[in-house]
Amino acid sequence: MRKYIILVGLIIATLPSVLFGQNPILIPPHISGTQFNLNLQTGTHQFISGVNTNTMGVNGSILGPTLIMEQGDLVDILVTNSLMDTTTIHWHGMHVSAENDGGPHTKIYPGATWNPSFTVLDRAGTYWYHPHLHEQTNKHVSKGIAGFIIVKDSEEALLSLPRDYGVDDFPLVIQTKDFDANNEIIHDSNSDDVAMVNATVNGSLNVPAQIVRLRLLNGSSQRVFNIGLQNDLSFVMIASDGGLLESSVSLTRLRLAPGERAEILVDLGSFEGQSVSLKSYASELPSGLYGATNPGMMSMMSLTGYNPNALNGSDFSLLTLNVTTPTSAPLTTIPTSLSSISMLDENLANETRSLVFTPEAMGPNQLNGHFLINGNSFDMNTINYTIPLNNIEIWSIRNQSAIAHPFHIHDVQFQILDRNGNAPPLEEQGYKDVVLIRPMETVRFITQFTTHANSTVPYMYHCHMLVHEDDGMMGQFVVVDPNSISDVEPELTNNIEVFPNPVINNKTSISLDEEIESIVLFDANGRVSDLKVQLSDPFNSTIILNDKPKGIYILHVRGKRKKHISKIVLM
Ligand code: C2O
Ligand code: CU
Ligand code: CU
Repeated sequence: MRKYIILVGLIIATLPSVLFGQNPILIPPHISGTQFNLNLQTGTHQFISGVNTNTMGVNGSILGPTLIMEQGDLVDILVTNSLMDTTTIHWHGMHVSAENDGGPHTKIYPGATWNPSFTVLDRAGTYWYHPHLHEQTNKHVSKGIAGFIIVKDSEEALLSLPRDYGVDDFPLVIQTKDFDANNEIIHDSNSDDVAMVNATVNGSLNVPAQIVRLRLLNGSSQRVFNIGLQNDLSFVMIASDGGLLESSVSLTRLRLAPGERAEILVDLGSFEGQSVSLKSYASELPSGLYGATNPGMMSMMSLTGYNPNALNGSDFSLLTLNVTTPTSAPLTTIPTSLSSISMLDENLANETRSLVFTPEAMGPNQLNGHFLINGNSFDMNTINYTIPLNNIEIWSIRNQSAIAHPFHIHDVQFQILDRNGNAPPLEEQGYKDVVLIRPMETVRFITQFTTHANSTVPYMYHCHMLVHEDDGMMGQFVVVDPNSISDVEPELTNNIEVFPNPVINNKTSISLDEEIESIVLFDANGRVSDLKVQLSDPFNSTIILNDKPKGIYILHVRGKRKKHISKIVLM
């Protein structure tokens, strides 16, 4: 980062916004229904007025449309990749099958279209989508690809809550970015000194003088925010990552780590004609969080490029809410009771897994990474855990490094049991898919791996600081149905196509007349553990047999309804 940019960053962050004017924030267009067409594209966006920056976006040059889905609907999504880069799109927080999840194995090549389709099983809430290609997630998110998913359900519909999109219900993605001297986005950087909401720097939003709903998403690559309103005005949190809390919680501060969402209600009824700013009170963040003055637990631990940065450890405005006339029938009271949530019983857990985060190198330089999970870096070809379908599990996660990491798991929402043995605060007592784990802290959560099993395509768990994730602070698991091979009498059918067979160039493709759920290969010694499978679409896959001995193999392919077995020959 150049000196000149440090100066610009300081000015943007510290001078009153009147000097630069306010910029009405962009409200992403929304798409409702069951068919969603998304086009990943490059473009330019003016973060600084009059200056074009190269960006990536969905159906536009920055961010993406908000997808509004109904629980129970079967949705069909077409994701076309018009970028020059291979990427993936992941539905963060949603309970979808592994092949629809858009993790790093489900690549969308340039020019290709990916067509996931799934039933929305999630609770009403605020979810999001973003790219997830291994080692490129931070680049593609930082360049601009991120969008909201709002799920609605009948429980939420019965509550009196603001839900008029863009009128009293607003999606707000909070991010920081770093720009180089040419105003291009630098993604591999710890010098993110420009804060923005919905890709708008010094943003403002006209809001009616009544109770409004803000759907907050921390879409930053690394930074933790300590959200609050001007003059410590209180607000009411109604939902966390996985939807409604049991009861509303009144707060003046809310810590939001990368990947986390919160829905808050703000009562602006007595502020007509005034402005209230939404801020990050980062001066209150303790050492050991990215966003505080010291990103490491001890001040001698430095992170390259981190300081100086006017955003670190100081309070700054994210967005100015300009309070205008109320709508015709505004909501006047906030419901206290929201949902009933039953906590999974610890005694029912079938498994406890221990995960430990460590820096690869100890000492004062450790914040620069890599960070390891149980001593390992991510390997695309290693499945770290095999989880039986419907398992109830406790994950006990210990952070033995000097910086806090937001841990995220795909497939499930979890419930936090404790932080260092203590019950979590009220705002963390609902469903979560990201939890910030501070240095020397142990967090335990409980969850159940229901509905989806696929022994071929894994789900991810990882740190949601995208620099750490891309650096390998990630692992993967498959959920398997223990009954899928043994319980059902194998059905030998002509409906499986293996071509070519015998295999040529170590590669052969498999087609079924129903959706492929899993592919397992056996040789004389039993299951071949490191089979490489590329799913091209729900009905077609390619298997790669590099380095496998010549001979006869038996292929078990499980579809949605049947099992298919075929002999294949490698010559
Ligand atoms: Cu939000 Cu695995 O990601
Ligand atoms: Cu996710
Ligand atoms: Cu991390």
